[in-house]
Amino acid sequence: MAPSFGRAIRSLWGLKEDATFLNHGSFGACPFEVLAAQERLRREMESQPDLFFRERIIPREKDTELRAVAAALGAFVHAKGDNIAVTESASAGTQAVLRSVKLKPGDRILVTHHGYNAVRLMVEARCAETGATPLVVHIPVPTTAAEVVTRITAALTPDVKLAIIDHITSPTALVLPVERIIPALRKNGTRVLIDGAHSIGQIPLDITALQPDWYVTNAHKWLFAPKGSAFLYAAPDVAPLTQPHIVSHFVEMGFPKSFDYMGTRDNTAWLAIPAAIKFFQGLGPDAVWAYQRTLIAACRDAMRGLGAESTGPVEMFAAMGCFMLPQRRAAEVDDRFILMRDLWDHDRIQTAANVLDGKLLLRISAQVYNDANDIKRLVTALDRLGWPGR
Ligand SMILES: Cc1ncc(COP(=O)(O)O)c(C=O)c1O
Repeated sequence: MAPSFGRAIRSLWGLKEDATFLNHGSFGACPFEVLAAQERLRREMESQPDLFFRERIIPREKDTELRAVAAALGAFVHAKGDNIAVTESASAGTQAVLRSVKLKPGDRILVTHHGYNAVRLMVEARCAETGATPLVVHIPVPTTAAEVVTRITAALTPDVKLAIIDHITSPTALVLPVERIIPALRKNGTRVLIDGAHSIGQIPLDITALQPDWYVTNAHKWLFAPKGSAFLYAAPDVAPLTQPHIVSHFVEMGFPKSFDYMGTRDNTAWLAIPAAIKFFQGLGPDAVWAYQRTLIAACRDAMRGLGAESTGPVEMFAAMGCFMLPQRRAAEVDDRFILMRDLWDHDRIQTAANVLDGKLLLRISAQVYNDANDIKRLVTALDRLGWPGR
């Protein structure tokens, strides 16, 4: 029987009792069951570290447990394990791709201004090294899927050698139509990395059908894996040129095994991914996604009552929704921190706030442990803070 969601299953996580936790998106929240699997792995590691590393992690001709995890992940996202490397974060995978693409002065790297700040900084750093230039496509909110495609394709020139496109944007929570964007980039001869930091577990994924050159995603957000369990997919034609961001003993083995060992590190987050997949499958992915979308639609309606419009149509939201809070003046960066702090300190509500184009954005995550009461508490708190009249 499918478990009932909301308060009924919140005890599967160790979230603070008094917290209304509406920000699964930033760092995820790992359930006890998966943490227990990771703890078992840690004990095994510490009981005989040599054997643990040599037999289960360090790449060899014969596949290791880490490679078996890549295969399991691959089965989950419709890709071959041989095209999947483990990385500790989406940032690490992105860094590896940026370092693997040969760039020269005059080349351009396309991103959108909904991209993740750390990714923008990485792009700027890589450009400074190579003489390439960032090309930031501006997409004002509210937007639509059609507008996103139009703005990105209109910006393409032969100089755009690499594009990094979010599958689900961080500040605005929009699921971008990557299935339409990727073919346009390919046609332009542009290599594409899809930044799917938020995607695995939040939306169904078929990486082979999407045909990106690279795809990076964090299992520690919506798939419920322990922190530090990201992975990088590389398509067969770019896999041979994909270099790890840290050079270590097995660099000569090439992608993906060159990523398996980058010096001594704790591999248990990746090894616990099968436990996370089992947990997620146990909840029932279709039921999870339907529940999350229903909550986000309810949230959209409630936020409208406060005068806060969505950053895009509700069809562009999955398990996160993002709303533009009405303001009397343009928002400043500090406003996001003040709002988050105030909601937490006063109401024990955790959300993610951002500022984009002078707009104060509130991003709400709907996870299976949330329910309609959480949204009601948020609305009451925003009302206390003076919205919609603020
Ligand atoms: C769109 C996007 N890209 C990249 C990242 C970076 O992920 P990580 O902190 O795992 O490197 C995030 C983190 O939330 C993100 O939202």
